[in-house]
Amino acid sequence: MLIKLLFLIFLAAAGLIDSIYLTWEHFNKVIPPCTINPLIPAFFIDCGKVLTSPYSIIFGVPLALIGAFHYGLLSLLIVLALKTQTKLFRYWIILQSAFGALFSFYLMYIQLTIIKSICIYCTLSALISFILFILTYYFLKKERFELHTAAYAFVYQNFIKRVFFLLDAEFIHSVMVKRGKFLATTPLIRLVGSKLIYKDKSLRQKVSGINFENPIGLAAGFDYNADLTQALYYLDFGFQSVGTITNYPYEGNPYPRLGRLPKSKSLMVNKGFRNKGAKTIAKHLKNLNFKIPVGISVGMSNSENLTIVPDAIKDIIAALKTFEKSGVKNSYYELNVSCPNLIHAKKISFYLPKNLRLLLSAIDRLRLKKPVFVKMPIDKTNAQVSAMLGEIVKHKSVKGAIFGNLQKDRKNPAIVPAEVKKFKVGNFSGKPCEERSNELIRLAYKKYGDKLIIIGCGGVFSGKDAYKKIKLGASLVQLITGMIFQGPQLISQINLELIDLLKKDGFKNITQAIGYENR
Ligand SMILES: Cc1cc2nc3c(=O)[nH]c(=O)nc-3n(C[C@H](O)[C@H](O)[C@H](O)COP(=O)(O)O)c2cc1C
Repeated sequence: MLIKLLFLIFLAAAGLIDSIYLTWEHFNKVIPPCTINPLIPAFFIDCGKVLTSPYSIIFGVPLALIGAFHYGLLSLLIVLALKTQTKLFRYWIILQSAFGALFSFYLMYIQLTIIKSICIYCTLSALISFILFILTYYFLKKERFELHTAAYAFVYQNFIKRVFFLLDAEFIHSVMVKRGKFLATTPLIRLVGSKLIYKDKSLRQKVSGINFENPIGLAAGFDYNADLTQALYYLDFGFQSVGTITNYPYEGNPYPRLGRLPKSKSLMVNKGFRNKGAKTIAKHLKNLNFKIPVGISVGMSNSENLTIVPDAIKDIIAALKTFEKSGVKNSYYELNVSCPNLIHAKKISFYLPKNLRLLLSAIDRLRLKKPVFVKMPIDKTNAQVSAMLGEIVKHKSVKGAIFGNLQKDRKNPAIVPAEVKKFKVGNFSGKPCEERSNELIRLAYKKYGDKLIIIGCGGVFSGKDAYKKIKLGASLVQLITGMIFQGPQLISQINLELIDLLKKDGFKNITQAIGYENR
């Protein structure tokens, strides 16, 4: 970076000398010598005509002086960027060089089309401005991404979200899924991706034999019918979950199924595994290629026919078999035993270690080709979760645990009481999940960090939130609610922030940070 910034300073200094020279000539009313090559027709180059034209002065200030100020400021900003770590100067360099290039473009246009002559000194300055802009564009790529994702966030949070939040949450969700699915069939999606996908080797890792470009994934419940598997890569996700999918299709619990608690930064969720069923979704996924790993979240059907544990196990096994047979590429399984929204199959609990043992033993017998991660509850006590983990580690098909699912406790301190009162049913995502999710990541990593891979999930709204989970022991992090509140650029922003946080702590790769605060 030092060499790159030095190169930029050299160019800015050249622009500064050129502009100072023109300013000096302006105030001394001297027209500088104006030929570069006798082969270029003289009628085209006429410094006098350009420098004495009305366009050479704006609001009484000579353009040359404005140019000198611009290059002087740019030189100063580059020096400050070299001397300090303050990002502000780098952002300013990008904006200043973009302004310079735009203004130069305008001035070249005036020379060529209105004055119909060019001044070689002005053209040199324009050339320097264009080169500076192009080099800044490439040299300060990360800062450029940070700037435009911040601009997206501003537009989303101040305009788009305000409109969305006036409309029904489930309606907006289904419109966005349909738009996303459609966009993925058009070349437009690449345009989105080119603005959001930021790759960096410090975020890359291999987890349970699967390559992850970055640690941020979409949690289960957003893409329940697997409609977005071709789209989410372009939002900079490193992986995504589909589902939860069940053996039998389910049209969803009675309304309301989704609501917003803006002050609590939370969503009320009461979907109860609304999905098209394993057979239909497996058929759809079978021949697709995925740019990012896909976690197939499987749970028991929300059906009145399931009243006893052995039947629930058979039902889950049937769904897993369907997916295993269809050979979905680049995928893993999430076993959702913790959904608090099942209205029909409510009585069957896999929180009891003896039931969990029966289920996981049946899964072991399937000899699945892909790893299984168990989606855990966050409303159970440490003792109950420890007992579940004690069982999980005995089963070779299970490679990890996800902490965790929704918050059931309506008295959770992160939930604003006036907001929760509006909902008679449902459980809660977002910030009310964060603290307990972190506590359980800490607990699981401490006890079983050497045996289990942990995926953190719950209340991630920023890079710092994700990093906290990673330092407590999570190898990967999932989210939904943060994206709804902060905007679809959030994933890219988290990844950019994670790169800085890793660097600040002296880690070359994310794997070095996993569990660092909890060893
Ligand atoms: C609309 C919605 C639907 C959800 N459905 C499921 C689901 O089907 N299966 C599941 O395992 N978790 C489901 N969840 C829980 C999320 O996967 C996640 O565990 C929880 O929302 C906490 O993450 P967040 O705070 O980033 O949203 C759902 C969450 C939301 C917001």
